[in-house]
Amino acid sequence: MGVLASGRGSNLEALITRARGYRVVAAVSDRAGAYALTRAANHGLTAVHIDPAAFSGRPAYETAAADVLDGCGVDLVCLAGYMRLVGETLLARFPNRVMNIHPALLPAFPGLHGQRQALEYGVRYAGCTVHFVDGGMDTGPVILQAVVPVLDDDTEDTLSSRILVEEHRIYPEAVALFARQRLLMEGRRVRIC
Ligand code: GRF
Repeated sequence: MGVLASGRGSNLEALITRARGYRVVAAVSDRAGAYALTRAANHGLTAVHIDPAAFSGRPAYETAAADVLDGCGVDLVCLAGYMRLVGETLLARFPNRVMNIHPALLPAFPGLHGQRQALEYGVRYAGCTVHFVDGGMDTGPVILQAVVPVLDDDTEDTLSSRILVEEHRIYPEAVALFARQRLLMEGRRVRIC
């Protein structure tokens, strides 16, 4: 499995340390200083920065990223705090084999700052979603979700921390299910068999 990450990489760390039945072999980042790359290198993985500015556009950039991941023998690509919309090029190279984690109970609160959106909306429960990636923004078939309560005195930080604990639990679980071929796609529903 390979990871695309732009930031601190706590989900990458969880995917590595909680791996069961799969192995993380590479991390690619669009940001040179992403701590995710340091974490990957610390675990002895291939850790590569690919600068989007060096390419003519998204297709060329995604081809370069897919070439690195392919070269490492990757079967599944996991987005973990990857701050770019994935395009057709990457999806065509890994059909039904790109996953994402989003810090909200989709389809509620897609896009940036899912936790802040939930807090501002006033929901009683928030959470996170692991889903397959399609061409939209956080719109692909749902694999696993976890729910946390929203407390009266929550700030964006406290709610995000509570959600993050669940992210670190369900993302490795979803990848383990995929690795064991236990995820069956039926239209946009994912059955766990
Ligand atoms: C997580 O909250 C994830 O759900 C969202 O971006 C954040 C990434 O955090 N997509 P990290 O880089 O994995 O620590």
